[in-house]
Amino acid sequence: MSLTQKIVILFSGEGSNMEAIIRSLHEKEFEGFQVQVVATLTNNPNAKGIERSKELGIPCEVIDHRAFESREAFDAALAQAILAHRPNLTVLAGFMRILSPLFIRQVRAINIHPSLLPLFKGGNAMQESYLSPMKVAGVSVHYVSEELDSGDLIAQEAMGKIEGESFEEFKARLHALEHRLYPEAILRVLKEGAAF
Ligand code: GRF
Repeated sequence: MSLTQKIVILFSGEGSNMEAIIRSLHEKEFEGFQVQVVATLTNNPNAKGIERSKELGIPCEVIDHRAFESREAFDAALAQAILAHRPNLTVLAGFMRILSPLFIRQVRAINIHPSLLPLFKGGNAMQESYLSPMKVAGVSVHYVSEELDSGDLIAQEAMGKIEGESFEEFKARLHALEHRLYPEAILRVLKEGAAF
């Protein structure tokens, strides 16, 4: 019998990365362990990903941040909901909330960001990267730390820009890269036993 590595996925919107992770890792066997996506969680009751998660057979919990008095109160409830599942790793996939140190000290989490960090941190990374004079864009996976988009890098891959490409086309290629890179990076973290 192989070991089970449990992950919880957090998202706020479309949930396309969440879907890619579930499709490539959930209930699959990898050298000596099996991955279980035990839950998905969102802060946004209107997130499209809620339906996606259900269709994929994973229960989604909604914790609306607007119901809390402060960031800390929301983060405490979120951390509690995550830790109740005893995950080996928490995976942020388009989770659009800044997390307080209180959360980060309790939950070991990784995040995906649509740029070659440390370039283009923050919420407009795709747009800024598309508009920049750089010839390449890319995707980064990193540990979540107290500073936004600044934790240690786990994986990073560049993508050449195509002349005349529209923003929509650029975005679609970047998303496709994310959907391949993130499951690979999660597996790497689980294999290295760096997660708890
Ligand atoms: C992704 O581009 C991710 O890098 C960023 O937010 C986006 C989420 O997309 N943090 P989706 O919800 O996974 O479709």
